[in-house]
Amino acid sequence: MTIKQIFSGLKFANLASIGLLLTRKKSLRIYLHQNKIAYFNEKQIGIPVKPFYEIFPECIEIDETINLISEPTTGGLSKTELYYISTIVKYFQPKQVFEIGTFDGCASAHIALNIKRPDSLKILTLDLPPDREKHSVNFSDQEMEFLDVIRPGYYLKKYDKLEVVNQLYGDSLYFDFSLYYGKMDLIFIDGNHNQPFIESDTKNAFLMLNKNGIIIWHDYYGIPGKQVSDYLIKLSNDYTIFRIKDTSFAVYRRG
Ligand SMILES: C[S@@+](CC[C@H](N)C(=O)[O-])C[C@H]1O[C@@H](n2cnc3c(N)ncnc32)[C@H](O)[C@@H]1O
Repeated sequence: MTIKQIFSGLKFANLASIGLLLTRKKSLRIYLHQNKIAYFNEKQIGIPVKPFYEIFPECIEIDETINLISEPTTGGLSKTELYYISTIVKYFQPKQVFEIGTFDGCASAHIALNIKRPDSLKILTLDLPPDREKHSVNFSDQEMEFLDVIRPGYYLKKYDKLEVVNQLYGDSLYFDFSLYYGKMDLIFIDGNHNQPFIESDTKNAFLMLNKNGIIIWHDYYGIPGKQVSDYLIKLSNDYTIFRIKDTSFAVYRRG
């Protein structure tokens, strides 16, 4: 842990965090992180936060069951995020979806599980090639540990959803997206969260989006200094982007 991280943690600590330090040390980091997000939300720094059903009012009408994987998931999406992405899919029934960052396929599997006619859906999901160590991207040891868990597409195989998926391999910074320009109903950006990648992935997403499409970014926290947050805050000067309350999703709706 760096001195900067210790000071950042102290800034958002309180008496309750001492309790966690003594009894549940592992939960302390999550708690401090949540405090930090709440602090910047209250200061109204960053993209405006809205409840999900204010951004997607049509989804209130859904009276069908939203299908969710019940086991503990590792893809980094919270249960609330998986519920909302599944709800969007249930209502809009996208036909063409592009995901940057497959990992264990948790988000893609939820998309596939909430489609009524699987034969009408194609999910294109891009991840680094299995031999990514030789690739141009430098990952920290911590990132490598996370990336090596079970990828790519573990849940897609497990839930027998491989037929709706085209697994693409490549580094999103150099990948040729031009084949998909103007075609995508839904795009989920969840690859490398460093500045050049988030900027390039977002530019490609706007090119791939069709006239009524939706872009969702994962890991937007509204914390100044974080690369996804800084980039999207800048982008929100030109596009109407909202953050979904109680999630790290930022969304853009075209049309
Ligand atoms: C946070 S995980 C994605 C989680 C996934 N969306 C899910 O639902 O489980 C990030 C993924 O992005 C991939 N990734 C990282 N950098 C990338 C790049 N430059 N191009 C393509 N994929 C990348 C990683 O290999 C990793 O599998």
